[in-house]
Amino acid sequence: MQQLVDAFSRKFFYLRLSITDVCNFRCTYCLPNGYKPNGHKSFLSLDEISRLTQSFAALGTEKIRLTGGEPTMRRDFTDIIATIKDNASIKKIAVTTNGYRLSRDVAQWRAAGLSAINVSVDSLDPRQFHAITGQDKFSQVMEGIDAAFTAGFEKVKVNVVLMRNVNDKNLPDFLNWIKDRPIQLRFIELMETGDGSDIFNRFHLSGDVIRQRLLNEGWLHIPRARSDGPAQVFTHPDYQGEIGLIMPYEKDFCVTCNRLRVSAIGNLHLCLFGENGIPLRDLLADDSQQEALQQRIQGGLLHKRETHFLHQGDSGITPNLSVIGG
Ligand code: 5AD
Ligand code: SF4
Repeated sequence: MQQLVDAFSRKFFYLRLSITDVCNFRCTYCLPNGYKPNGHKSFLSLDEISRLTQSFAALGTEKIRLTGGEPTMRRDFTDIIATIKDNASIKKIAVTTNGYRLSRDVAQWRAAGLSAINVSVDSLDPRQFHAITGQDKFSQVMEGIDAAFTAGFEKVKVNVVLMRNVNDKNLPDFLNWIKDRPIQLRFIELMETGDGSDIFNRFHLSGDVIRQRLLNEGWLHIPRARSDGPAQVFTHPDYQGEIGLIMPYEKDFCVTCNRLRVSAIGNLHLCLFGENGIPLRDLLADDSQQEALQQRIQGGLLHKRETHFLHQGDSGITPNLSVIGG
């Protein structure tokens, strides 16, 4: 088995694959005016996804996360899971979702082979949830999380984008919520995107504030596994749930980078921020191009930079995260 590796000896076990740019929410920090189609883009087909993920599997990928936009807006979402699942070397298939379709479809996704779910919930207050996402769907999303447990998921991850004076004061509510629930609640630092400088300047807050409070209250930092995402994870004997902190502005955040991204139009992105993407789609049309595809992926990886340039305010070409997924 080959293993993808870059010039800094980082190994890549984890692919984040966007399957659509479309989203039905309007999160203030992402798509405040809602999704606007940009030309007539066609997103990767089921066959293209199948070929792409087979090549990544042959290069050592063991975990694939489906993202967007909102990945569950695709009508063939369950088929996409099943197609990836056909590949025995992919050990984990995860989705990042706004939770809108969970209560309706999660059992079906689980049956098709989905193994992990991340749901975005930026507030536990229904009115504030509505204000942030533009959708009055708090209860539907909560029912969705319950439905995921009922369908057999033992743990659900919940993403909270940390925003100063919006949800940073609500740590006690969040902690209370996970006391008796097997939820890993992850605070993600707001990242600056091409469209989002104003929002960033108003709302960005370092996760360090949360980290200090957790440590003071007896939470313990636990080690990570090789295909885990970038969260620092904390546990506490009195809590069934866990807390994760994702702090992309922290020194050395990129040292443990183990993930690559492919956009919904089939471009390989070596980093969430700061480059144009390497087109792969011309090699996805038929099975005979698998070898060339693998070479292009490994070759491209040699250009991966050591770190992002977010500190210099360089958000590259990423106008918002619906374009290549969070
Ligand atoms: N900064 C941090 N997180 C973001 N997300 C979307 N845009 C941003 C941003 N600018 C998050 C979503 C979701 C995940 C896919 O990415 O809230 O949890
Ligand atoms: Fe949609 Fe996610 Fe962007 Fe919110 S953050 S608008 S749910 S893609």
